[in-house]
Amino acid sequence: MEAPVAQLDRALPSEGRGQRFESSRVRHFPEFPANARMRFLITGTAGFIGFNLARRLLADGHEVQGVDALTPYYDVELKKNRHAVLAGSNRFTAHIANIEDAKKLESIHAGAAPDVIVHLAAQAGVRYSLENPEAYVRTNIDGTFNLLEIMRRKPPKHFMLASTSSVYGANKEMPFVETERTDHALTLYAATKKAGELMVHSYAHLFEIPTTAFRFFTVYGPWGRPDMALFKFVDATLKGRPIDVYGEGRMSRDFTFIDDLVEAIARLVPVVPERGAPSDEKDSLSPAAPFRVVNIGGGAPVELTKFIDAIEVKLGRKAIRNLMPMQPGDVRDTFASADLLEKLTGYRPATRVEEGVARFVDWYREYFKV
Ligand SMILES: NC(=O)c1ccc[n+]([C@@H]2O[C@H](COP(=O)([O-])OP(=O)(O)OC[C@H]3O[C@@H](n4cnc5c(N)ncnc54)[C@H](O)[C@@H]3O)[C@@H](O)[C@H]2O)c1
Repeated sequence: MEAPVAQLDRALPSEGRGQRFESSRVRHFPEFPANARMRFLITGTAGFIGFNLARRLLADGHEVQGVDALTPYYDVELKKNRHAVLAGSNRFTAHIANIEDAKKLESIHAGAAPDVIVHLAAQAGVRYSLENPEAYVRTNIDGTFNLLEIMRRKPPKHFMLASTSSVYGANKEMPFVETERTDHALTLYAATKKAGELMVHSYAHLFEIPTTAFRFFTVYGPWGRPDMALFKFVDATLKGRPIDVYGEGRMSRDFTFIDDLVEAIARLVPVVPERGAPSDEKDSLSPAAPFRVVNIGGGAPVELTKFIDAIEVKLGRKAIRNLMPMQPGDVRDTFASADLLEKLTGYRPATRVEEGVARFVDWYREYFKV
C-alpha cells in the first residue's frame, strides 16, 4: 500500500493548544511552549493508537522514535503499513524491538534521549487474555518494568502510559471517575494494566518521574484494530457474514474516536503532574508522587445496537446480528467522566459515533479497496 505521506502534513486544529492552566498543581514546563520541537519516544507505534499519535506529533513538527515488536496478535501487514506511513517523515525513526528485551530498550532509549516517553505497547484485548494470559504478564508487567528501570536512571520530563477503562471492572457507579476504587478487575488484561499503574506510581514516588496514566475507553477509527468490534462488524457485513453481538447488543460503551483521543493526549503533554496535594476532590493527583490518572473518553455511552445501526447506515446494508450472551470478563457498561480531562486541558472528546463510524468505513474501503 502506498503511504499517504501528504496526510502527515495535514494541519490539525491548534485552537487552545499551549494554553496555560492556573491550577496550583498543573505545571507547564518552560521547555513545552506551543511550538517547541520535542523528542518523543513512543512504544507501540505500529499499533492503532501509537501510530495515530505519532502521526499527529510528526505533523506538529516533533521528532518521534518508535519502538514496536510487530507482534502477531493481529495482521502484521497492517502494522508494517502503519510504520510505512510514519516513515514518510524524516523525523520518524522506527525500532523493531521487544520491550521485554531490557538491553535493547536501554540502548534505544540512550540514542533517543527523549523529552517525553509515551508507553502504549501492550498485549491488548480483553477476551484474548482468557486464552493467552502469559503474553499479558510478559509485555504489560515485565516490559513496563524494563522501561521503569531505564527511566529511574534518567527520568523524562513527562512519562505517559496507557491504562484502560477495564480497571473500573465491576464498578457500578456511573460515570467512572478517576478517584474511585479500582480493585475489582474482571480480567487478567485489566489486572496487568492496574498493576502497571501501581508499578509506575511507585517509581514516580521513588525516582521523581512525572507521570500521567491514561485510562482509554473503547477507541475506534481509521487504522483501527482488526480484533475490535467495529473492524469485525464492517468486515463481516461487507462479506455478508453474521456478526456476534455480545450482551444481546444491550451493553454500552463510551466509544472514543481516535482523533479526539490523540487531541487529548497532545494537550496533556505539557500538563506535567507535580508532587503535592490534589487541587480538588476530583483531581486524581497522588498525594505521594507526581502521578495522575486521567480518563480519556467521550462521556457519552452508546448501546452496542446503536453502534451497529450507525454501521448499517454508512454501509447501506443490514448486518446479520447473531445475538449472544455476555462473555466471561465482559463489563456491561462503560462511561467516562471527562471532567478532569476538561479541567486540565479545556477539551473533551465530542465526535458522534455516526461520524466516527463513517470515517472508519471510508478508511476501510480505501485501505482494502472494497
Ligand atoms: N484501543 C483501545 O480501545 C484501548 C482501550 C484501552 C486501553 N488501550 C491501551 O492502549 C494501548 C495501545 O492500544 P492499541 O489499541 O493501539 O493496541 P495495538 O495492539 O494496536 O498496539 C499495541 C502495539 O504494541 C506492540 N507490542 C505488543 N507487545 C510488544 C512488546 N512486547 N514489545 C514491543 N511492542 C509490543 C504491538 O505490536 C502493537 O503494534 C495499549 O496499552 C492498550 O492496552 C487501548
